[in-house]
Amino acid sequence: MKNRKVLITGGAGFIGSHVVRHFVKNYPNYQIYNLDKLTYAGNLENLKEIENKENYTFLKGDIIDLEYIRSIFKEHNFDSIIHLAAESHVDRSISDPLIFIQTNILGTSTLLQVAKENWKDDYADKLFYHVSTDEVYGSLELGGDFFYENTPYDPKSPYSASKASSDHLVRAWSHTYKFPVVISNCSNNYGPYQFPEKLIPLFINNIMHKKALPVYGEGINVRDWLYVEDHAKAIDVIFHKGKLGETYNIGGHNEWTNIDLIKELIKQVDQKIGNQPGESESLITFVKDRAGHDLRYAIDATKIKDDLGWVPSLQFEEGLGLTVDWYINNSDWLNNVTSGEYRSYYEKQYS
Ligand code: NAD
Ligand code: TYD
Repeated sequence: MKNRKVLITGGAGFIGSHVVRHFVKNYPNYQIYNLDKLTYAGNLENLKEIENKENYTFLKGDIIDLEYIRSIFKEHNFDSIIHLAAESHVDRSISDPLIFIQTNILGTSTLLQVAKENWKDDYADKLFYHVSTDEVYGSLELGGDFFYENTPYDPKSPYSASKASSDHLVRAWSHTYKFPVVISNCSNNYGPYQFPEKLIPLFINNIMHKKALPVYGEGINVRDWLYVEDHAKAIDVIFHKGKLGETYNIGGHNEWTNIDLIKELIKQVDQKIGNQPGESESLITFVKDRAGHDLRYAIDATKIKDDLGWVPSLQFEEGLGLTVDWYINNSDWLNNVTSGEYRSYYEKQYS
């Protein structure tokens, strides 16, 4: 197996930490560099298991900082990038959109530009892998069609519009400079280490603390859920076997209305923490809908299955069970994250 120097951005976040762990453990002959700004969503606790491995290096920095990105390229000479760093939460993008524009659009362009400067048109064995979301395709009707790789872009939130812009920039580099890129667009992820502002960890935390469960609108919106380690495995497959210039949709064919998902979650958490079955349904509180709330996301993942042989390995009930167990058994992680304590600890180490 070839040696590689892989820069993974956003590796201290939810999905990034699974990707970093996966690559560090499975590819001991690769040098893995994790570049992360450690925003509120970045937490090096997520990587404790591999932080002392010889093939792992953490780099604290901002992807919009052109001179910093130039300096780390010069020092480490990466041959590939898996780019996950982003502002990722739709609700935050509605209340504070400008940081999404900066990180997701300017940050992606900065990485593209510095990689291009360094690879100097010698693109043999080089790869810029851009990790994106199915939200760029917009919103589907209930019970209707799916998102395909050639579905026209129609992003509707500041988050999805910023990710769509970054996808377009990556394609522009590919088209204009013949730059070696691949893109994947994935559905909603769930699993360990997800920041408890997203639906599943927020609701597990709230059930454990007997706090209200704020369901937006009527809870009829549909999301297509994929276990995060299955996403990390798909990223591995695309990184190694994806065709340059191509896009791959990743999803679990696993659609749930929010309200059904919440009831399933309540069932599992109540059972595991010794509540009466369904006891926490009384916590459900219907609240004002999210502005511009996309009705339904659903991925057609035929291409990645047919071309690259990837299919999800976990059934949803199993993945949800593992997730609920993880949050119950890692209440310290959850408490540190919700109190913000981990930041003071790591900020001291890396500032
Ligand atoms: P996250 O918010 O948990 O993590 C993002 C990470 O990026 C954090 O560690 C943060 O510190 C880092 N970061 C943010 N701004 C940065 C900057 N300017 N410079 C360097 N690092 C910075 O996000 P996530 O849910 O793990 O998502 C990761 C990627 O996957 C994103 O690109 C997102 O769009 C995409 N994605 C997410 C989902 C999902 O369901 N969460 C689904 C499909 C695609
Ligand atoms: P979220 O986890 O924020 O992911 P996304 O908006 O990227 O799909 O939300 C998932 C779904 O859950 C979405 O339809 C919004 C809804 N939701 C709630 O009803 N209440 C909440 O408190 C949150 C965070 C989300």
